[in-house]
Amino acid sequence: MSDPKFTPRVFSGIQPSGNLHLGNYLGALKRFVDMQDQGAFETVYCMVDLHAITVWQEPRDLRHATRELCAGFIAAGIDPERSILINQSQVPEHAQLAWVFNCVARMGWMGRMTQWKEKSGRNAEAASLGLFAYPSLMAADILVYHATHVPVGEDQKQHLELTRDIAAKFNHDYGVDFFPLTEPVIEGAATRVMSLRDGSRKMSKSDPSDQSRINMSDDADTIARKIRRARTDSEPLPSEARGLEHRPEARNLVNIYAALADRPVDRVLAEFGGRPFSEFKPQLADLAVARLAPISAEMARLMDNEDEIDRILSRGAARAREITAPVLRATYDIIGMVGPKRI
Ligand code: TYM
Repeated sequence: MSDPKFTPRVFSGIQPSGNLHLGNYLGALKRFVDMQDQGAFETVYCMVDLHAITVWQEPRDLRHATRELCAGFIAAGIDPERSILINQSQVPEHAQLAWVFNCVARMGWMGRMTQWKEKSGRNAEAASLGLFAYPSLMAADILVYHATHVPVGEDQKQHLELTRDIAAKFNHDYGVDFFPLTEPVIEGAATRVMSLRDGSRKMSKSDPSDQSRINMSDDADTIARKIRRARTDSEPLPSEARGLEHRPEARNLVNIYAALADRPVDRVLAEFGGRPFSEFKPQLADLAVARLAPISAEMARLMDNEDEIDRILSRGAARAREITAPVLRATYDIIGMVGPKRI
């Protein structure tokens, strides 16, 4: 349960590095829209451009990817009036609080992060310092809003546990009850969408094979072809979820169908159980195209007016700073920085 002392507030972010794919959409973006539409939370959604540069980004590509991601958020249903929509670098309090958290978090905590180990690979010495400190900035993103809930895919779970550790250590070290212990919200059928080529690997923008993922920018034919060629086994679909246990590729396609159709897995299997993939795949392709094509068409339309996107992001930043500036000021005050009096 979240602490009633804090306003129910959702924060989440996506990196503007490369294309949005179906995993980002089902694991994150679609759920951002649901939480906005529930109306029970204030919602803040962010393009985390400062996180993106922890690995090299061509400046021109980064600028384009940030605007395109913003278009993706809006096309998927985020309303920049009802939600606060920002790019991280325009709200300087994220980076400022991250510095404080760099001094709260321990090197050992960062070193244990699986994403750090995966991304730094065998040559950690050559990785950027920013990549190592990545989770500290992520904790700052969340806590600078005193966010209570963070919708993410499964792969971000460890970072959210670290966010709670940072909040708890800060509160403990300074003897305050200032930062909330944020709840991860990892729910739904598609919290871990897998590669279409290999059911043991996550769908990811860094996979060298474009056949492994469905990009939000893929056209209808490409989506249908990727689904038709998706790896499966030769058995028909089972009638119950239990039957998917040792069939990762089958489970992945069923989960994708369930998430796109907003239906529980059991109901999908009640309909398709006993039928072969040659019947299921075309239906899945039709559903994916019906859901994704309008989003990518709207993204393209919004990208025709980059000035409007930039205006949305600067308005978002101004609204965000009404929340973040007082939280940063109060944090500085707690830790002993001399500055203007708290209001
Ligand atoms: P990023 O940009 O890698 O991914 C954005 C979101 O998409 C989810 N996701 C998936 N979900 C299901 N199946 C998949 N195959 C899949 N791939 C990605 C991710 O879990 C994520 O929710 N560190 C974050 C960005 C971030 C952030 C934050 C998130 C920065 N600050 C604060 C929440 C709160 C990241 O790299 O996500």
